Amino acid sequence: MPVATHITEAMSSSSFIRRMFEEGLMMKSRFGADNVYDFSIGNPDLEPPAKVARMLAAEGAEAKPGSHGYMPNAGYPETRAAMAKKVSGEQGVEIDAGRVVMGVGAAGAMNAVLKAVLSHGDEVLVSAPFFPEYAHYARNHGGILRSIPAKEDFSLDVAAIEAAISSKTAALIINSPNNPTGKIYPAELLAELGAALTRAKARTGRAVLVIADEPYREIVYDNRKVAPIFPVWPDSVVVSSFAKNLSLPGERIGYVVVNPASSWAQELTDAVIFCTRVLGYVNAPATFQRIVAECWNEKVDYSSYLKRRNLLTGILDEAGIEYSVPEGAFYLFCKVPERRVTSGNPADDAAFCDHLKANHVLGVPGKGFGKPGWFRLAYCVSEKTITLSREAFKKARIEW
Ligand SMILES: Cc1ncc(COP(=O)(O)O)c(C=O)c1O
Repeated sequence: MPVATHITEAMSSSSFIRRMFEEGLMMKSRFGADNVYDFSIGNPDLEPPAKVARMLAAEGAEAKPGSHGYMPNAGYPETRAAMAKKVSGEQGVEIDAGRVVMGVGAAGAMNAVLKAVLSHGDEVLVSAPFFPEYAHYARNHGGILRSIPAKEDFSLDVAAIEAAISSKTAALIINSPNNPTGKIYPAELLAELGAALTRAKARTGRAVLVIADEPYREIVYDNRKVAPIFPVWPDSVVVSSFAKNLSLPGERIGYVVVNPASSWAQELTDAVIFCTRVLGYVNAPATFQRIVAECWNEKVDYSSYLKRRNLLTGILDEAGIEYSVPEGAFYLFCKVPERRVTSGNPADDAAFCDHLKANHVLGVPGKGFGKPGWFRLAYCVSEKTITLSREAFKKARIEW
């Protein structure tokens, strides 16, 4: 068998979001699209801004000679400069283009960073629940993902993170707004984290690199602000993309920005550039580098996500299913309800998702996010789908 055993094992124990998504496609062709309520995947359904389409058309009609050639591994200088401007505004510190490395989505950017910093057996900490792919990304580079349970309200448990840090800890991933909870970490909490990391560094002699994974930064409700990490911890990077805010997940365009305050900012930037190359990405896609250099600040109306959040929470209220109210992103993290009719493990999230599926509702079990007893619904789907799901949720609750 040519496939490595650890890959076979990783495949069988994961990919549940993709599996649900693919099952959803099959169910839709069997039962009709209006009769399947697919909340499985975070594939934003808003169209990208009109300027993206205009630029793409112009790119096709009048590509300049050399437009599709190799470039420096870090990306086009103009695109790096545009990202530096964007992230300077978000982080409230002056960043120059030399601290930016363009990546193949946030996922490619994160892999380049992890490859740059992990040695075999190093740990990467993350607050649970978390985006499940992180475990694979850490393992790709010889690392081990170690999850630290969040507080009950899904905020970071800073004391528990501090206690978990040892000389093996290379990095900490924070993700705000969070997938799957929609939680946003306030500035005071990040300041507390900075203080804890300072104490941990004095204790272990090793600085933990904070990787702020921020693809949902712009999708926030009630005018909330996503607090910056750079002012509170120098050894930090921002990893992000235009997958969610500009609805371009298939175009694989993202970036890494290294905190200029880090004492090894240049060394880390050079390593991320090298890793982008040797991971085989070589550079981020050329056409979309040119597009995001011009479109990064396009205004998108996210109010429909808020409307859908409220529509779905109303339906769950009626059905009697509890959830944590998201402050950003487009995921609703819900508690498996108490069993009234069926028997078995009271908080079995996989069984409840199967039960939902029997009612044509597709959600994702919390176990894979490191939080059994919960499940995730991605509400970046049409209002019609949400509205039509009402009776299915009620029936599923009554019959559980
Ligand atoms: C928290 C988080 N990080 C990273 C990614 C990957 O983003 P990209 O498609 O830009 O690689 C996702 C995608 O869903 C995500 O939810």
